[in-house]
Amino acid sequence: MFDDLKVWMNGEIKPMKEATVPMLSHGFSRGSAMFEVFGIHKGPDGPYAFRMDTHLDRLYRSAELLCQRLAYTREELIEGVEQAVKANNMEQGIIKMMVYMGEQALINLVLDVDLDVCICAVPEDNPPAAIAPEPIDVCISKWRKLHPETMPTEAKACSFYLNGMLARKDAMDRGFDLGILLNLDGTVAEGSIESVFMVKDGVLKTPPQGKILRSVSRRSILEACKVCGIEAVETVISPEELKEADEIFTAHTGIKVTPAKRIEDRELPSCPGPVTQKISDMMHKILTLQDDRFKDWFTKVG
Ligand SMILES: Cc1ncc(COP(=O)(O)O)c(C=O)c1O
Repeated sequence: MFDDLKVWMNGEIKPMKEATVPMLSHGFSRGSAMFEVFGIHKGPDGPYAFRMDTHLDRLYRSAELLCQRLAYTREELIEGVEQAVKANNMEQGIIKMMVYMGEQALINLVLDVDLDVCICAVPEDNPPAAIAPEPIDVCISKWRKLHPETMPTEAKACSFYLNGMLARKDAMDRGFDLGILLNLDGTVAEGSIESVFMVKDGVLKTPPQGKILRSVSRRSILEACKVCGIEAVETVISPEELKEADEIFTAHTGIKVTPAKRIEDRELPSCPGPVTQKISDMMHKILTLQDDRFKDWFTKVG
């Protein structure tokens, strides 16, 4: 599926099949790797990246939090995105930027080397996140979210996704689509690869920053709600509160608004509920570049 793509790897465009890392690379064998994912959207005069600056800020912040440094500047990465988009004749789709320690190591844990970068541009037939997804069934995961005192959970580190994978597997084994992880203190955190939102009495609620990933979708939804007059608050949410929600939805780069129809054994009263539908419509308009109020969120990349 990805074999025919061309990628930008450490400054060069090459076929995906040649974009490999050594078995004993620190990135693979020790997990010193992080990534970023963002959408490319079809504009009237070419492809546009969604909030690339915010995504690059998060990438450099991830490296800093994990005490590592990239071998490339921001300008070089932006140039890399443009080259990868062009090499794949991409009008719309997803950019996945892998950042990792390519240096090999057998015993060493700490290496003083810069991180390699590989930018994958994956074209898609539909605009990213603009198609209404199937409603999902969610549960509370038996796995807890990594605690920020064990790892800097704000970083988008590949190794953290084993926690997410276990939560997803636990949910699927129990007949749900996804599991919502709680923090160690028992409050709602997020999904394996998505932020969680609930609606109660017409008000949108989502857990605060601090113990969860700095999701760009989450931030965009909150900012857009403010502009569009939809009441939204960042607040601690208990699992009991979530289970009594009027509406629940999840959000990430690939699918901006996915409504839930059931949480544990409770059917939600409406799916998508009225607030979820309003937010879904709002994001659809923004992501198809039809809302000029948010045009600063897009950067032309081709
Ligand atoms: C744990 C987690 N939370 C939230 C998100 C959503 O983040 P974004 O909106 O930046 O895609 C992701 C995305 O990968 C994630 O992995």
